[in-house]
Amino acid sequence: MTESAAESWMARAEAYLALQRDLGGPELYGLERALPALGILRGPASAPAGGGLEAFRLEIGDCRKCGLAAGRSRLVFGAGNPDARLMIVGEAPGEEEDRRGEPFVGEAGRLLDSILAAIGFNREEVYIANVLKCRPPRNRDPLPEETALCLPHLEGQIDRIRPRLILALGRFAAQSLLSCADPLSRLRGAVHERAGVPVIVTYHPAALLRNPEWKRPTWEDVQRLRKLYDERVGDKPAWNRPA
Ligand code: URA
Ligand code: URA
Repeated sequence: MTESAAESWMARAEAYLALQRDLGGPELYGLERALPALGILRGPASAPAGGGLEAFRLEIGDCRKCGLAAGRSRLVFGAGNPDARLMIVGEAPGEEEDRRGEPFVGEAGRLLDSILAAIGFNREEVYIANVLKCRPPRNRDPLPEETALCLPHLEGQIDRIRPRLILALGRFAAQSLLSCADPLSRLRGAVHERAGVPVIVTYHPAALLRNPEWKRPTWEDVQRLRKLYDERVGDKPAWNRPA
């Protein structure tokens, strides 16, 4: 087998295994653990941005580092473009996300879609993930130990996707990404940085559902985000600013 045939076989095997897991399928005789080790076929030198994200998903596997594993239906890793320039970070999966295995697919997710649309983005071109990969029971706030144990998963995603810009949704995502305890009111309106990647903070869409008066400032935040994106990345056509 040539190296490229082997690589394409590996990629298909990995994708199949990830799909099996995301559907709650069987653990395939330890093969899924062996595959990342075979990943030496994919040299880091030639790896594009986003390279290794699937292997990283396999590494995390059926994570049971914290108590949330017991109550989840499935781990919600993340979704979207592994080469995304813009990454969106939320708090934790809710009920719908836990059921479907995808972040932001409930009511807050629909609002996130329209927030993204307002600045000319759609969910397929960005990458969406949460700080916590598993749903806290009854959507309670994440505990500090859960956050500490789970944050390396998000950091691993950021390191592989290498986004040019991160949008943090809500206080919890912002504080986790920026390792600070500042209130949202102090974090909004500035450009922060996490390991060299600019971070912009806005309200969480679930908070907007409860406090519609925060929609206006959110729209202002994401207009600033789009402006910064155009300055730093500049690969998007001009969009029609909605009224
Ligand atoms: N809220 C979040 O923070 N993340 C989701 O995926 C859904 C709702
Ligand atoms: N507090 C939060 O945690 N998030 C918001 O979006 C607003 C207030």
